[in-house]
Amino acid sequence: MNIYFDENTSVFHLSNSKISYQISIEEQKYLAHRYFGKNLKQHTFKGDYPVVYRSFGPNPIDAQQAGFSLNNQLLEYSGNDNGDFRESSFQINFSDGSYVSQFRYKGFEILEGKPELKGLPQSFTNSDNEAKTLKITLEDTRNKVQIILIYTIFSDYGIIVRSTVFKNLNHESVFLDKALSMSMDFPHSNFDLIQLSGSWAREREMIRHKINRGVTKVDSKRGTTSHNYQPFVALADPNTTEHKGEVFGVHLVYTGEFVSNIEVDEYNQTRIQMGINPAHFNWEVLSGEEFQTPETVMVYSPDGLNGMSQEYHRFYQNQLIRSKYTKEERPVLINNWEATYFDFKEEKLHALIDEAAVSGVELFVLDDGWFGKRDDDRTSLGDWKVYEEKLPSGLKALSDYVHEKGMKFGLWFEPEMISEDSDLYRSHPDWVLGAKNRQSSVSRNQFVLDFSRPEVRENILEQMRKVLDEVPIDYIKWDFNRNMSEIGSRNSSVRDGEILHRYILGLYDMLETLVTEYPDILWESCSGGGGRYDPGMLYYMPQTWTSDNTDAASRLDIQYGTSLVMPISSMGAHVSATPNHQVGRSISMEMRGHAAMAGNLGYELDLTELSADEKEQVKTQIEWYKKHRKLIQYGEFTRLISPFDKNHKAAWMFTNESKSQAVLFFYQTMARANDSFDQIRLVGLDSDKQYKLSHTGEVYYGDELMYRGVYINHDLHGDYQSKVIEINEVK
Ligand code: GLA
Repeated sequence: MNIYFDENTSVFHLSNSKISYQISIEEQKYLAHRYFGKNLKQHTFKGDYPVVYRSFGPNPIDAQQAGFSLNNQLLEYSGNDNGDFRESSFQINFSDGSYVSQFRYKGFEILEGKPELKGLPQSFTNSDNEAKTLKITLEDTRNKVQIILIYTIFSDYGIIVRSTVFKNLNHESVFLDKALSMSMDFPHSNFDLIQLSGSWAREREMIRHKINRGVTKVDSKRGTTSHNYQPFVALADPNTTEHKGEVFGVHLVYTGEFVSNIEVDEYNQTRIQMGINPAHFNWEVLSGEEFQTPETVMVYSPDGLNGMSQEYHRFYQNQLIRSKYTKEERPVLINNWEATYFDFKEEKLHALIDEAAVSGVELFVLDDGWFGKRDDDRTSLGDWKVYEEKLPSGLKALSDYVHEKGMKFGLWFEPEMISEDSDLYRSHPDWVLGAKNRQSSVSRNQFVLDFSRPEVRENILEQMRKVLDEVPIDYIKWDFNRNMSEIGSRNSSVRDGEILHRYILGLYDMLETLVTEYPDILWESCSGGGGRYDPGMLYYMPQTWTSDNTDAASRLDIQYGTSLVMPISSMGAHVSATPNHQVGRSISMEMRGHAAMAGNLGYELDLTELSADEKEQVKTQIEWYKKHRKLIQYGEFTRLISPFDKNHKAAWMFTNESKSQAVLFFYQTMARANDSFDQIRLVGLDSDKQYKLSHTGEVYYGDELMYRGVYINHDLHGDYQSKVIEINEVK
């Protein structure tokens, strides 16, 4: 890993054994992007980009060469109103009402390690020799504002982490209307755009299409990252498959609204950008102060989409998730939500706990409905005190009961919300997020609390501390069950354009406090399932409830899409009742198990109502999972057959580091008469090792399994069938 600046050519070269990233200082000290991709031995020479006169391409006033125009240059952080007509990376409003700025190169700094971003979730190093950082300062001398571009390269990943700082050296405030984290230009547009779009209960469907002239935008204006779009985009060579070909991914470490612009210009060059969505953003940077954007994680992989995903998984596992559970085997849980919804009492819970304990479950999670007077979703959010009519012996007694059964105890909170029918609302109606003199819309009968205000956070924090200090709690599910609307401040002097980012910073501040004060708690993030499954939350919470849709067939799509960027150890996956509550589909216990066992296995159904045979199956599943969960949660994950290919099949596999053990999951959602014989080629084994397959007992060399393949599904009969095959080295 190295960062090098060539003074003769004015080229910066960040490189490690996998990637190179090159930036050059061009005419008039504008900063150009020269390369991101496979590691190169040499840096590109300055001036190799053709400077050719183009009509209607403005030349900066003092340019030496008439052909030099920002409109056709490949830029590193595109500016505003200097003749580049593509999407800008920022927009600054100065106090005199002007907004034209001219940022030129001023200087650079190379640091060992990675500097900390204040108040934001971020990737980290465990020691300085894991990474190097380049800071390039640009300055608008007239307006006295600096932009500092920060790049970190890690020794062992095909990854560059980027963020941007705006520094106001002016004696007056400046206002940021737009401040993206990154922008980068490619010299061509021969790309497919890959993104993860969805909706509630249909999160992260993988969408791929050719890019074309104009701007494509992937964004959220919902106050949160949302079910609808992941803050992730990838540009892939059209020939790139799961297993080979080039792909570039960009993922934002942030939980608020985001935008990614993908623009193809008149010369078929491609700009890709990512950052905070300007929709609800206008930030005042006071004289002498700075604004720091969230960071983006940019991956280059020459090894297809699996190669990209494996980089993200490994990087998040080692350099982003900072919980003490990051590398620990995650407990098999039972959650009472789909078993009881709001309708439970102590006796019902005890019965569920008893059954869970004998099945081998390790963690009991009490979901929504334990507090205030919460019998349905119309009341009590904000009143985090036990509902005594439901739990007369109290939470501590319930936690003790669970612990006595040898399990851990987990609890659900939705700290950012408030019900109109709550004591908190009655005493602080002005704490609701909303615009001045406007009514706030309800959603799921609830309002959002204004977490940009410290006194609001402090109140909720205090209530949570009270519960956590009284009751032994091992796990918390932190939910967020609506999108934000009327984003503004009802009752403070803060301008509306700052509320949302201050809210997100406030949320991060509260999470920081809680994970520091209660380091032994295992945190799981949730937002109506996977509505806030982003790297920002992952920094604080190592697990996420992937989707409210627990149907095993739907889960194949959801888990497949999610795995594009998120590590398997973060993915909550539960076996639920049949017919399924979200889609009404009936699927065997076996396949429901096989779908959930490909993530963090849990159960979310009334175990007491299962037949003796089903109970036995649950036990067997849990036993099997405990033996294999290290491999599943932390092994290398490879997608083999995509459920999005519409052939009603899906397959994926997990391989351990030494390649001595693997497990293959195959699913068939719809049977076809006289179906084709699928010879599945495995991936990531050792050619020279011999492996025994659990379903036939036969032994093959790794190369046979990888290049010739195996037949595994010709004996499956009927819809919703699945198979799990263990692949173990024989010596
Ligand atoms: C959300 C979650 C569910 C459950 C309910 C409770 O929808 O995703 O798992 O916790 O809230 O209200």
